[in-house]
Parts: sequence; C-alpha cells; structure tokens
Amino acid sequence: MGLKYDQRLLEMLVGVYGPRTRMVLEALKTPPREYALRVNMLKADPDDVVSEFEAMGVRCRRSQVLDEAITIEVDGPFTVRERGARITADKFAAESVMLGSNLYEPGVLRSERVRPGDEVHVADIYGHVVGSGIAHFSSARPHTKGVAMTTTESVYRLPQIRETAAYAEGRIQEQSLPAMLVARILDPEPGEVVVDMCSAPGTKALHVAQIQGDRGTVYAFDNAPNRVAKIRSEIRRIGIKSVRAIPRDSRYIKQDFPSMIADKVIVDPPCTALGVRPKLYEDAKASDVEACSVYQRQFLETAASIVKEGGEIIYSTCTLTLEENEGVVEYAIESLGLELAPQDPLIGSGGLKGLMRAQRFDPDRTDTPGYFIAKFLKR
Ligand SMILES: C[S@@+](CC[C@H](N)C(=O)[O-])C[C@H]1O[C@@H](n2cnc3c(N)ncnc32)[C@H](O)[C@@H]1O
Repeated sequence: MGLKYDQRLLEMLVGVYGPRTRMVLEALKTPPREYALRVNMLKADPDDVVSEFEAMGVRCRRSQVLDEAITIEVDGPFTVRERGARITADKFAAESVMLGSNLYEPGVLRSERVRPGDEVHVADIYGHVVGSGIAHFSSARPHTKGVAMTTTESVYRLPQIRETAAYAEGRIQEQSLPAMLVARILDPEPGEVVVDMCSAPGTKALHVAQIQGDRGTVYAFDNAPNRVAKIRSEIRRIGIKSVRAIPRDSRYIKQDFPSMIADKVIVDPPCTALGVRPKLYEDAKASDVEACSVYQRQFLETAASIVKEGGEIIYSTCTLTLEENEGVVEYAIESLGLELAPQDPLIGSGGLKGLMRAQRFDPDRTDTPGYFIAKFLKR
C-alpha cells in the first residue's frame, strides 16, 4: 500500500502534471527538507527564536521569503528498529511519529501488550514502522489522552516543537510557507473586519490578527465544535484578543448574521488535501474531488455576498486537482462576478488554464506541500 488513487483521479492528476505525475507522487511520500514555523511577531523576534532553537542543537534559519518565517532542517530518512511491542497508529498519528513527534493516545488504534516504561515501536495500519520509543500507557486500560509514547527514533527527525518554551508561550505556530502567504497576500490593515470562513485550528486567523497588530476584528468560523475549541485554545496560547471563534456553518453567514460586512474574507475550505506531505498512504477517489469542489463553491458564493464592494477574498487549498483549484476560480469569475487579482508575494508558479494570477506550489518543484492560492476582488 502506498499512494492509491482510483483511475479517474489518476487521470485528473495526469491532466495537471503530465509526465511529471510520478515525480509529484514520489515527492508526496517525503517531507519537505525544511520544516516551516511562523514566529508571532507581537511576542518575539525571529532572530531570537532562531538562536533559541540553535541553542537546542537544531539547524534553524530565517526564511528568505517572509520576515516572520523560520525553517528547521529535517534529518533522515533513517531505518527504525522494531523495538519491543508494536503499537498500530492511525494515519495522522503515524505520519506525525514518522517526523519525530511523540505518539498521543487518541492516535493509538491497537497495541500488543504494553506497560509504562516498555520499549515499543509504532507502525501504520499497513505495517510500515515509523518510529520507536518508550511507552507511557498500559494496553490493559482504555486509551484516553496524553502521550502514549515518547519517540526516540523515527524515520525523519525534527525537534519536539510542541514541547518547547517557544511553543508553550505562544511565540511560534506550525504553518507551511505557502499557508503563511495567505494572510500576507490578504494584507489586512489594523481596524479591518476579516472573516475566516473555515478557520480551525485558527492558524490563518491568528496570523491575520498578528499582522493587524491585534487591532482589527477577525471572525473565525468553523462548524465543528471540537475544532472551534481548538481555535479558542490557540487564541489563549498565542495571546490574541481580536479573534472571535464562532461555531457555525459559514455557508449561512448571510442568513445568520444579516449585518455582517467584511473588508476581507479567507476561504480555506475542506479539500482532498492531496498536497499534504509526507504521506504514508492514501486512498483517494475522483468522487471525493468532485464532492469537495461542489462544497468549495458554496463557501465562495457566501464570501462574495458578505464582502464589501472593493473588498478582497483569498481562496486556498492544500490540494492538487484542477477541479478544486482553477475550476473553482473559473466558477468564481464566471458565476459570482469576482475578479482574479494579482498576488504579492508571488513565489509559486502561475495557475493552469491561463490563470496566471493564481499561485500553485508543486511538490516536485518546491520544497513545500502542494498548495493553491487565488485572490479575488469584488467590484
Ligand atoms: C482546511 S481546514 C482550515 C484550516 C485553517 N484555515 C487554518 O489555516 O488553520 C478546513 C476547516 O473547515 C471546517 N469546515 C468544514 N465545513 C464547514 C462549514 N460548513 N462551515 C464552517 N467550517 C467548515 C472544518 O471543520 C475544518 O476545520
């Protein structure tokens, strides 16, 4: 098992990448060589955070692209020994352990007999061994939360970002470089009202607030209550006052909040996430792409109705298909009357179908996840 796509989806990808498709799929199995973090400029100086990581023996540097971005070198791949009992983890947890994160109990699917202090190893559901370490739970009692294994060996190595003081004190957020561009391209001014329609865990909303110096209003919508709780805990960790997390289906903002008018809107909707890397395996279908693309258009339709005239909308996805990217952009232009606007910074390659003002990040060409960004103006 590796990356498995149904025939129609494979054809969609070949339509985008042609003979490069195989290289794109290979790149998706590995992490970028540099892992990006965003510094909360309201609390810290990126140079100080770089020094802090360097003092921990981490190879870290400032990004040449964005002031607030720093990157950490990813070591690997290494071969991991199968020590002790096997813990089988879900896809997300196994991919995190592969990068050196600890294993948390909600990610444990099943386990051989384990007691706290035992040496153990972690595999995904297909038996790929991704890491090993020391267990902190007992297989005799049900899994709840907390650390299940501290990772000492993994296929790739990154520091335990979430265990650092910089993380605990809200000085850094984990975010890929293309994802950081979204708030930068939106360029929010202090005092502006920004609506983030699909916000959890709030990374982009909090970036917007930081750029505004915490002197604007950011409405962070998400329809999943547990994920809204995550936005709220991130608001507390980062220490921002201007973000309001709202548990609501944002497709109905117009009906639920008739007086809501935004200066700027972010639409970062659910997508097939085909650009996220590294991937241990995937089982995606063309029908998932089609379902997402219908859903994505609904968010843009609402965005167009709540943004003021002259206002801006940024649309972004972490996926690769035309149907969820350029196809949605064409819909926004043709059916919603939005104007595709130039982006700054523009670092990726232009969009397909002649939409050169859109921005694509291709995993075989840039050391980033696959990503797509479009900016619209409402005239
Ligand atoms: C790609 S994630 C957003 C990531 C986020 N923008 C960030 O940068 O941290 C998409 C989010 O959309 C939310 N979502 C899905 N359907 C929604 C809906 N109808 N209304 C509001 N949020 C929705 C999901 O719960 C998920 O948190």
